[in-house]
Amino acid sequence: MDFLAGGSIETESGEVLAVPVFEDRTWGPGAGWVADRLGPWLDEFLDGQGFSGKLGEVVAVPTAERLSFRTLLLVGVGTDVDDEVLRKAAGWLGRSATKAVDVATTLHQIDLDGAVAAVVEGFLLGQYRFDTYKSAGEPSTTERLRFLAPGDEAASVAAGDAATVAAAIAMARDLINEPAIGKAPEVLATKAVEMGRSLGVDVDVLEPADIEREHLGGLMGVAMGAHNPARLVRLSYEPEDPKAFLALVGKGIVFDSGGLSLKSPDNMETMKTDMSGAAAVFAAMQAIAALGIPVRVLGITPLTENMPGGGALRPGDVIRPRNGKTVEVLNTDAEGRLVLADGLSLAAEAEPDLIVDLATLTGACKVALGYKIGGLWSNDEDAAFKVKAAAARAGERFWQMPLPDDYRTKLDSQIADMKNIGDRWGGAIYAALFLKEFVADVPWVHLDIAGPARWPDEEHYQSKGGSGFGVRTLVELAKELAEG
Ligand code: BES
Ligand code: ZN
Ligand code: ZN
Repeated sequence: MDFLAGGSIETESGEVLAVPVFEDRTWGPGAGWVADRLGPWLDEFLDGQGFSGKLGEVVAVPTAERLSFRTLLLVGVGTDVDDEVLRKAAGWLGRSATKAVDVATTLHQIDLDGAVAAVVEGFLLGQYRFDTYKSAGEPSTTERLRFLAPGDEAASVAAGDAATVAAAIAMARDLINEPAIGKAPEVLATKAVEMGRSLGVDVDVLEPADIEREHLGGLMGVAMGAHNPARLVRLSYEPEDPKAFLALVGKGIVFDSGGLSLKSPDNMETMKTDMSGAAAVFAAMQAIAALGIPVRVLGITPLTENMPGGGALRPGDVIRPRNGKTVEVLNTDAEGRLVLADGLSLAAEAEPDLIVDLATLTGACKVALGYKIGGLWSNDEDAAFKVKAAAARAGERFWQMPLPDDYRTKLDSQIADMKNIGDRWGGAIYAALFLKEFVADVPWVHLDIAGPARWPDEEHYQSKGGSGFGVRTLVELAKELAEG
């Protein structure tokens, strides 16, 4: 899609014009001018449509040649507009405009620092569809988004950067929405290699023999029951003169059947999305490299299926992840923490300034926070603060959860250094306490995205299915670290 800035609502013409309206039909930038042109019947028409300007409302108004645009879309933005509200409004607009080739808007004239970026991200993500397997897909036909305003260079740059982030999120969504049959670890690793090649990111793929040689006993253990062999992908982005060194670790379970601790059919239905953490790491690396953010980034994604094949790990088996601590696996469905154990050890050995892991780790986190908010744990308050600040700027919601030392005893095992489950109550906390054992003293933030990685409905800029949640936070975090 092309983004153009310039011109004005008075002089331009075209197919669709989209202008913002605040709650109680308070005209936003451009809407007042449009209302004057259309005359008093507009209010009657909007009464009939029940349009008041709430966020989520978009109404098409026939212009009957009173405007030089064929269709007018009034986009509700509600009352307290911030970047995330604008992103959502633009998402609703994107959904309403998928059949238009040319869309001109004044949404970005709402006075906010990141307005252009929010509109571009929301619009593009709102138009996202996963139709790979639809015989008759209906892809969006929008080719141009025009920002009606005195055009300035900065707006075009902001639009381009935001489109880069949106494209990375769409890539993550495609990977997450892809059925497990089409994304064996080997296939995902190959995609990572191709992505790396086009962006100057060095990608190194560990195959089963390498995984064994590197003592990645957590990943090896989980992969035992799977037909498709595991991979571990290591991506390094090393810009000149980096301002910081960030390590990202993503859970990459391409399908979680639960293993021998088999899930119920209902709970298994969406488990192709259990690699959303890995997808977010790939996408963040893609965006960070494409934007040229001066931060060194190491991405680590252990990739495997969790299956109950004949060779599968049995409840009660003991495995030895890379750092040498032995783990009694009492529930093979708590597999994410086992593969992350190795990923986190590799990350910690590289001695980064900060490790962030993302994982669809526990149903308990989804129970606690619902599907719109991720859980955040950290061994370092400064690190937690930085990630929370980045998330707030990105418009993604995380809630910090405790990491209580005295809960650790529940992970004690009778026969090994620890077991892989704690207690049912506070299950997400035990998962986090388990991970903490593998990061040594490196500042670390754990993001449990079991809820928001998958959106249950079509809503604003989210589509039903993989959301790409976490990508924007990681990109913002890299920008923040670059600024020192
Ligand atoms: N992948 C699941 C967690 C999950 C559940 C993600 C629902 C998204 C939606 C994870 O591997 C898992 O099964 N965790 C278990 C842990 C338990 C056995 C300690 C869980 O949450 O039930
Ligand atoms: Zn599981
Ligand atoms: Zn899982």
